Amino acid sequence: MDPILWDRLFEVATAARERAYAPYSKFPVGAAAMFEDGSIYAGCNVENSSYSLTVCAERAAIFRAVVEGKSKLVAMAVVADASLPCPPCGSCRQVMAEFGSADALVGFRSAASGEEEKYTLHELLPHAFSRAFLKK
Ligand code: THU
Repeated sequence: MDPILWDRLFEVATAARERAYAPYSKFPVGAAAMFEDGSIYAGCNVENSSYSLTVCAERAAIFRAVVEGKSKLVAMAVVADASLPCPPCGSCRQVMAEFGSADALVGFRSAASGEEEKYTLHELLPHAFSRAFLKK
């Protein structure tokens, strides 16, 4: 993907991180999901006093996009304040695999150091569960 587009995706994710609702973990995360038509949707983590109801930034971004009729995820940028680039959790990887193909790209950046890593979705979630297994 064009590096300028990654700049834009990380910019959107960084801005979204400012909106994170993370009073419990105090670990704000921002995400930006790009779809096939070039549209970009921002997400932030939204925590809850009933901790397990927390929604991660990546899933918040994807769910917003689905409401708008998007279904083909091509790239996701994630920004968190860990000293190292913080990879998406397993639940988010599975949700990304629902909407993105194996070659969708996932980049994550440390807000502290600016360090980045990028992987394909297949690298992050090999042997993914998918709808194919639901067929008997
Ligand atoms: N979090 C995300 O938003 N994305 C991830 O991929 C990992 C974790 C959030 C959930 C929770 O609000 C906080 O980070 C600490 O786990």
